This record gives sequence, structure tokens and C-alpha cells, in this order.
Amino acid sequence: MRGSERLRGLACETKLDPGDFIYPLFVCPGKGVKNEISSMPGCYQMSADMIAKECEEVEGLGIPGVILFGIPEKKDAVGSEGYAPTGVVPTAIRQIKDRVPGLLVVADVCLCEYTDHGHCGVIRDGGVDNDPSLELLSKAALCYAEAGADVVAPSDMMDGRVAHMRKTLDIAGKQETVILSYAVKYASAFYGPFRDAAESAPQFGDRRAYQMDPPNAREALREAALDVEEGADMIMVKPALPYLDILYRVKQASPVPVGAYNVSGEFSMIHAAAANDWLDLKRTSHESLIAIKRAGADFILTYFAKDVARDLQS
Ligand code: PBG
Repeated sequence: MRGSERLRGLACETKLDPGDFIYPLFVCPGKGVKNEISSMPGCYQMSADMIAKECEEVEGLGIPGVILFGIPEKKDAVGSEGYAPTGVVPTAIRQIKDRVPGLLVVADVCLCEYTDHGHCGVIRDGGVDNDPSLELLSKAALCYAEAGADVVAPSDMMDGRVAHMRKTLDIAGKQETVILSYAVKYASAFYGPFRDAAESAPQFGDRRAYQMDPPNAREALREAALDVEEGADMIMVKPALPYLDILYRVKQASPVPVGAYNVSGEFSMIHAAAANDWLDLKRTSHESLIAIKRAGADFILTYFAKDVARDLQS
């Protein structure tokens, strides 16, 4: 049954489909800006106008949506730019919706890109203060929904944020805005290149007091169940490749669609090895995404989206 391409095709259980991808993009201030991120080949910090242009290409490749991260003009202790209607992300959302109205726009909701200390909430006594952070996260989610985001994706890992956000959106008439929760997000070293890209590395300490502890699996099921109970329409497991066991378990138990985030480190290490001619970029990226899908992902957030969609087209 493995003797030819066609026989293997008949037996094939999992196929890659650009329709399952979400492409991450980093929005910065300005006009006409497109700066390559040194640790993420082929990924850029782009101003809203360039992002909108990029989105035309994304849609043309059959990719249904993008997820936006913001790099603000200025940061402060409470991440004000994260919920300013004139901020980088709402501006990009409006320009994308003008230019490619059908493309799904997911807005990542977190404060770490907007705070001067780089943590995902407000600080009290050297740690993140959960409940006051919820107010600001919900404010950000509403701000993106009002700018036209189809989906908001809280990635902060504060307790109770999904319920708080759902209530805030509903009261404001945004019942149709979908919540994709980063329900199962580990305190991972694989986010390294992203923190360069988003300029969001914590200025003191780390995120282990709010993101999950890598040795724990049963806790992932509790986190996923809590977020669904609070109103999450879809959930996510992150990172993907080092956590395929978690993805499999969460998918088995989940009543809602489950996404996986193939994170920056997973992308950059393949690129670094390929640049040394140690690995084949195309084959390793396809195999990575197939593995994530085989483990149960309904959709995949990946920096490989455009390249793989292009490979699949040809
Ligand atoms: C924000 C956020 C992070 C990522 C997505 N949203 C970074 C972090 O938590 O440090 C990581 C994405 C990636 O590595 O590709 N909280």
C-alpha cells in the first residue's frame, strides 16, 4: 500500500488544507513600513496599510483569516495603547475590512505588548493583579470588536477573563463576536522569537505565575473546560509540536473546535536548521503541520501558512 504516490494517496488519513490556517501578523505604527523580524525569516512588522495589502495576498492563497498583534507607539504601566480606538490594531482592522472585507480578522487580546513592564496584566506587589487586569482586557476586546474584528483571542491567561469579556461584549451589542480562547497556554521557551517580533519580553521575572507549567497535562483539561463554561466558542492549545499529547487529549474532551498555535520558536528552529542545510524546509514544515492536524487540531495558527498554501497550490 506504500508502493506508489497514488496508493499512498488512497490510504492517506490526513491532508493539509490552507482553509485550516490562520496567519499571524505584527502591526506597527506608521505608513509604508515593512521591517523583517531577524529571528523569523519572511515575517515582518508592518504598518496598517502594508498589513491590508498583505491580507489581499493571504486571501488569494485560500487562507481564511489572520491574527493581529500590535506593537504600539508607546508603552505604559496599564497598556493604554492596547485599548485605544486609534491604536495600531483597531487601525489595521479597519483597513483590512475596507480592502478585504471577507477575510476573518482575529485580534489577539493581551497587555504584554502594550505595558512598559511587559507583563500580561497590571502589576501589584511585583506580580500581576488578576481582577483589575480583566477590566482592561475586556476593554481591549470590545475596542477590537467595534473596529470590526470577527474574533477576539485572549492570550493573557488571567482567571475569569472569558466570562468577563463575553459579558462586556454582549452588553455592548457585540453578541456576534466570537471568542477564541488561548485556554491551554504553557509558559514556554518556544515564544522567544515572538517576543522579539512583538517587543513584549517581560522586563522582570517571567510568566510562570500565570501561564501553565509544562509538566502538567490534566490541568489542561481543567483549563479548557473552564473556558468553555465561561463562554469560549473555540479554544486553543499552545505551543503545538511539543504539546501534541495535550492537543490530542484536549480535542478528545472538547465540545468546541480546537486550534493549535505552531509558535514562533517552532517556526524559527526549522528555518535555522534549513539555512544550515541540515533540514529540508518544505518537507519539515509540511510534516509539522500534518502532525498537528493528525493530533486533532481543527485549525492551525502558523507562520508557515503562506508558504505551505503556496506549495499546496502548485
Ligand atoms: C501574548 C502572546 C504570546 C504569543 C502569542 N500571544 C507571547 C507570550 O505569551 O509570551 C506567542 C506566539 C509565538 O511565539 O508565536 N501573550
